[in-house]
This record gives sequence, C-alpha cells and structure tokens, in this order.
Amino acid sequence: MNRELALEFVRVTEDAAIACGPLVGRGDKNGADGLAVEGMRRRFDSVPISGTVVIGEGELDEAPMLYIGEKVGCGGPEVDIAVDPVEGTNLVAKGRPGAIAVFACAPKGCLLHAPDMYMDKIAVGPRAKGCIDIDAPIEENLRNVAKALNRKISDLNVVLLDRERHEELINRIRKAGARISLITDGDVTPILNCGIEGTGVHMYIGRGGAPEGVIGAAAIKSLGGDMQARLYPENEEQIKRCIKMGVEDYHKKLLLDDLVKGDDCMFTATAITDCGTMLNGLRYFGNGVRTHTIITRYATGTVRFIDTVHSFDKKNMQVKL
Ligand code: FBP
Repeated sequence: MNRELALEFVRVTEDAAIACGPLVGRGDKNGADGLAVEGMRRRFDSVPISGTVVIGEGELDEAPMLYIGEKVGCGGPEVDIAVDPVEGTNLVAKGRPGAIAVFACAPKGCLLHAPDMYMDKIAVGPRAKGCIDIDAPIEENLRNVAKALNRKISDLNVVLLDRERHEELINRIRKAGARISLITDGDVTPILNCGIEGTGVHMYIGRGGAPEGVIGAAAIKSLGGDMQARLYPENEEQIKRCIKMGVEDYHKKLLLDDLVKGDDCMFTATAITDCGTMLNGLRYFGNGVRTHTIITRYATGTVRFIDTVHSFDKKNMQVKL
C-alpha cells in the first residue's frame, strides 16, 4: 500500500471522531455511533482505494453503512478494511476515557474475517514478542513476560475488561502477584498501549469482541508486538456464521499472522476521549477542534502521532497550543 494513503486514513478516523464529538457524555451511545459512521463513510468516498469492509457495523440487513461486504473508496489498490467508527460506545456516552475512532487496512485477503462474537485474546509489546501462549497457564505467561521485560511479576500491569467471566483469571493474576487495571469497555486501546513503552500496560488478556481483536491485532503487529487469539462461538448460529465467513476451523489458536497476514497492514486511531498518556481526546475551542491520531505502517515500521487543528470558520481561525 502506498505510503501517501497514511494521511488519507488519518482523515477517515479524524472525521469519525469529530462527527460524534458533540455527543461525548450525552448518554446517547447509538446516536454517537451513528454520527461517527456517517462521518467515516463520507470521508471514504475520497480515499484512493478499492476497499471492501470485512469488519464493520454488521451485515447489510443490520447496518445501512459500513456493512460487511460494502465497497468503499474512489479506486486504487484492492484492500480489506476493518472499521470501528466508535470503539467504546459506552465510554463516549458516559464521557469516560479510552474511546477511539479506529480503522485497519491490509491488502485484499489479509485480515481475518472475524464474525461478531467473542474472542479470547492475549497481547504484549515488542520486548515480549514470542513469550506468550494463549494455551499456557496465565502464571507461565506472566513469568515469561516478566523475564522478557527484565522485571518482577509484581512490576507488571495487566489490563482486562471488568467482567464476571474474568473472575478466575483476575484471581489467578492477583495471586501470581501482578498488578491489574480493570476497564469497563474498549479493548483495542489497551492492546495498542501494550505496543507503546511508557503507557504502563504490559499485557492485555481476556475475552472481548472478535472484530476488535482483529483491529487490535493490526495495531500490535505494526508496533512490533505480539498477540494470540481464539474465536469463542457460543451457539450453533455463531458456528454457522464462522463457516459462512470462511473460518472453518473456528477452534484454531490464531497467531498474529493468522489475524493479520502479510507485511503491509496499516492502523489508525483518533482519540474521541483521552487515552491515557498516549492520545489526547477531542479539544474544542470555539472555532475549531483539535484531534490527536496515531497511524502505524507495518511495511516500514513508521509510527506517526498527528496533532491536527480543524477550523470550523476559516475567516476566524484560532490555533492554540
Ligand atoms: P462497543 O464499542 O461496540 O460498545 O464495544 C466495546 C467493547 O468494550 C469492546 O472493546 C470489547 O471487545 C467488547 O465491547 C466487550 O464486549 P462485552 O461488553 O459484551 O463484554
């Protein structure tokens, strides 16, 4: 994929974030999602790709825009795209940190077509690459990651979604001595954090959305980290859905290269609300809004943090530090 696409992709997530910004903290998660979808979809019309949505807002009968199979872009390389115009709709509705507008892209056929179901995931940053095994006991993973990071287990910070289903895992992590940060929603952000030293996140583990798993995998892959996963279909219908989407072996342990194949993926996220030390959420100042975006490119290992001021009224521009 052409490097010039990076700035086009940044505009895609910037527009999604800006579109839903007025609804931050307004208690309307569906409204916020709808605005972000429209903002993102509109921007795709001018992006020079021939894209197919492989992870999106749902099937054609469930979603009017950015549905699975929808073609986007104004012509260019054939790519798969995975979008989540608002990752963390509850976070936006409640004005809580950690919500992002996010998008991953890879050449056609390179992104796992993950159905909308749960997925078990484990992710770490570059220094712990090759040290995780989703089938190993958590204690062993903690030991190996601590060793790779040259730390004690008690120095590790592990992020999990605060869910009843994680109770046993949480107890075992605590017993092993590691620290835990429990989040209410939005597990792409902690996967991304794992890949960036200084964010204070050393491991993400647990069961969350499969679509978010593939998007997170594109992030961690392009940051040089590692991830493993396994789909978690809960009934016959979900198994049928896996098969329909081309995932015959739905119990397979998925390595990073099964989630995102090849060596040419890109990932971009614009913060809607603050994302720790990594990205600032939307900042308004009367005549404009400031956005903060990360865009990564696996082919070159380039990671850009883009801080942009968008003026609503060009005649009365206001650029502030
Ligand atoms: P939405 O943005 O669609 O609300 O999803 C947020 C999310 O927290 C994901 O990040 C996570 O993977 C999934 O939901 C967890 O699902 P559940 O809330 O059912 O545990």
